[in-house]
Amino acid sequence: MDQGLVEIVRSSFLSHFGKKPTLIWSPGRINIIGEHTDYNQGFVMPAAIDRGIVMAISQAQNGRGQWIATDVKDSYSPDSSPSPTPKSSGWKPYLLGILSELRKKGIQPGPVDVVFSGNIPPGAGLSSSAALENAFVFGLNEIYKLGLSPMEMVHISHAAEQDYVGVRCGIMDPYASMFGHAGKAIFLDCRSLVSEMIPVHLEDCQWILLDTGVQHSLADSAYNQRREVCEAIAARLEVSSLREIDLKQLDKIRSELPEADYQKACFVLEENGRVLKAREALKKFDLLKLGELMYESHEGLSKLYEVSCEELDFLVDLARESDGVLGARMMGGGFGGCSLNLVDVNKAHAFLNNARKRYRERFNLDMNDYSVSITSGCRLVT
Ligand code: GLA
Repeated sequence: MDQGLVEIVRSSFLSHFGKKPTLIWSPGRINIIGEHTDYNQGFVMPAAIDRGIVMAISQAQNGRGQWIATDVKDSYSPDSSPSPTPKSSGWKPYLLGILSELRKKGIQPGPVDVVFSGNIPPGAGLSSSAALENAFVFGLNEIYKLGLSPMEMVHISHAAEQDYVGVRCGIMDPYASMFGHAGKAIFLDCRSLVSEMIPVHLEDCQWILLDTGVQHSLADSAYNQRREVCEAIAARLEVSSLREIDLKQLDKIRSELPEADYQKACFVLEENGRVLKAREALKKFDLLKLGELMYESHEGLSKLYEVSCEELDFLVDLARESDGVLGARMMGGGFGGCSLNLVDVNKAHAFLNNARKRYRERFNLDMNDYSVSITSGCRLVT
């Protein structure tokens, strides 16, 4: 957690509202492996990171309160009209979505004053939205003593994103942001929601994100389309999700399916298998194996699931041919955002210099990179 960020938010709150707030840290996430498996009730292995959102919150004395988003220099009063509608853009729907989900549960917290700021690079696919939703529900729960469990808060954030913001995402992002543990990956079974914390011994390695700086417009429609393909195949096999079948069962209906759809389902089954192998690799401190699995995951996401893009493929290919990069893959929904790289610390400098240069030569774009470490999830800042 960035102490400087905490101080900025704390003092901004104090100068706006003249009182001391409750402070919450809510992190973004990386996903080590297990992509596009969460909404198929499969396995994922994310981790909370040291980039996130700091939110200052307190019960409002006047009217409905005021919410201030420091980074975009914007503010909002929940009693002002018109209120941002569901599915509109910007930061407000994330907060309004939380209130809307709480209302559905018959919970009506009182008004709040809020100031928040973050250090998650925008558009990088590190789940700033889940971090913001979690921060708000966590803060409301704290100051109004709503009695919600962390798991209930995860469901509320997930529902806010799906129903109010209008993104049909899975549960991985709010789960990772809420339940993260320092130095541990979260092996999560998205069907049972049972998780296991796996220590990540990086030895001489580090996690580096390479940011393509692009987000292709296809991202949302393609995500929903992939979901529909998976759901349709599950329905045809009369099961609730692809988690319930194996390759043999899928092969029985292969001839009835468009080949591209068959391949997408294959990817999901294989990716689940890779998450299980990655869990074993971590337990055996076998980072070479983990890296191999990451490269395989990318190959499947690119060729079978078709959610990569030229920029991501370029960066992963570059990683594969670079000295000291044990594994790399695209991360999140796809079509832009970051690649996640497992890199030998002694080789990181040379790798990054080369990647920046080659990316600029190829796409005429500056590539940002971030070194991240695994931290604990949502919590009060004392
Ligand atoms: C996005 C969604 C997640 C997950 C990933 C793909 O990040 O928010 O729920 O589906 O894509 O693994």
